[in-house]
Amino acid sequence: MAKAKTAFVCNDCGADFPKWQGQCGECQAWNTLTEFRLSAPAAKKGSSGRAATRGGFAGSLAAVKRLEDVSIVDLPRLASGFDEFDRVLGGGFVPGASILIGGHPGAGKSTLLLQTLCRLASSHSALYVTGEESPEQIALRANRLQLPTDQLQLMAETDVDAILASAESLQPKILVVDSIQVVHSDTLTSAPGSVSQVRDCASQLTRYAKQTGTVLILVGHVTKDGSLAGPKVLEHMIDCSILLEGDHDTRYRTLRGQKNRFGAVNELGIFAMTDTGMREVTNPSAIFLDRSEHIAPGTTVVVVWEGTRPLLVEIQALVDDSSLGNPRRVTVGFEQNRLAMLLAVLHRHGGIQVGDQDVFANVVGGVRVMETSADLALLLAVVSSLRDRPLPQDWVVFGEVGLSGEIRPVASGQERLAEAAKHGFRRAIVPKGNAPKKPIPNLEVVPVSRLSEALEACS
Ligand code: TYD
Ligand code: MG
Repeated sequence: MAKAKTAFVCNDCGADFPKWQGQCGECQAWNTLTEFRLSAPAAKKGSSGRAATRGGFAGSLAAVKRLEDVSIVDLPRLASGFDEFDRVLGGGFVPGASILIGGHPGAGKSTLLLQTLCRLASSHSALYVTGEESPEQIALRANRLQLPTDQLQLMAETDVDAILASAESLQPKILVVDSIQVVHSDTLTSAPGSVSQVRDCASQLTRYAKQTGTVLILVGHVTKDGSLAGPKVLEHMIDCSILLEGDHDTRYRTLRGQKNRFGAVNELGIFAMTDTGMREVTNPSAIFLDRSEHIAPGTTVVVVWEGTRPLLVEIQALVDDSSLGNPRRVTVGFEQNRLAMLLAVLHRHGGIQVGDQDVFANVVGGVRVMETSADLALLLAVVSSLRDRPLPQDWVVFGEVGLSGEIRPVASGQERLAEAAKHGFRRAIVPKGNAPKKPIPNLEVVPVSRLSEALEACS
């Protein structure tokens, strides 16, 4: 019989080593290796390769197919009941897929999944495994949210073997495990929540999902810096990784795909957390805009591109005399280094000096802008605040700013302009490369190719 092997797995990064050592060779953390018992490999069926007859070889070759011969049965996707959720998934749940939903505590992961499952349960068998809340708590929440509770199967369990046994007898089409961090296996010696536990339990669950065609949804917690706590290793195992983001002080939650084997990544789904649970926001483009009566200096509106659609967001900047030797550059929703770089471009190519000023920049509504298309809007907001002169409310700006002061075109310019026109904007300052060939009704487009031209257009 094959001997069970052991490996030593780092609790921080999940790297494994054949021998114990004090320091992890991967992440250099000390004293993080724990022993991990690998299950004995199943004895190979049939004779060994060397002794095999020709027939034996033919048998093993049967598993190899030409790509075009692989039958593609069009697997129907399961709709989640939320269009925003389906969009992030690439059109619904794929049978056999394992999906990881990460987010801060209180982001609304359990609420979103409970709402989804209660509704799905009427047409597909669904099992919700909770390791963090009691069944009574879940029932209370479902009642308060007035969800249909008659079909959903619920189970409070943290032992992976018990979960798999129940799944095998109930055969659900969709299985939720909330959360993967509390699931453990008795065959492992390490503590629940450690990387080796999470990794092993998740691999057992994903294997089960693949073999039976069950949709598996794992809930994962994230650390302060936004990465999944511990199980970086999980991301290789699962098919989709989705992050639910949003601060406690805003009601909006964004669902963002980070990895998706069945659809586009970086799609954004937008929800609002209300007193009746998660509601999808069907027209998200305008929710981040503050259409107040009075016009404040330091504010611009930009059209960013999120996944496959445009989104109008408001950018604010505040420039103030600094009392510090090293003036502050503070950003919320942007990359800080990008602001410092843009301010240098403003100085060199726009002739505007903010070296003795504190500069604060913020994206309204808790959105994070990772696109370079917001560069120009950010600089114009800074200039507007510095000069204490507001930009008219019906102006919209987008464009990337290069280090030599040029304004570079961005992707999907036409769609961005169409979205701005739809929301009643009258003037758009855009890169020359994004200027439309035909005029857009009710929208005056001002194409610019240098930063100085953009500053002129605003003065
Ligand atoms: P929850 O789904 O438990 O978060 P997670 O599972 O991601 O930790 O959501 C909890 C938060 O949502 C909590 O702070 C209260 C808020 N909430 C509402 O505002 N309205 C509601 O209807 C529900 C159920 C929760
Ligand atoms: Mg929860």
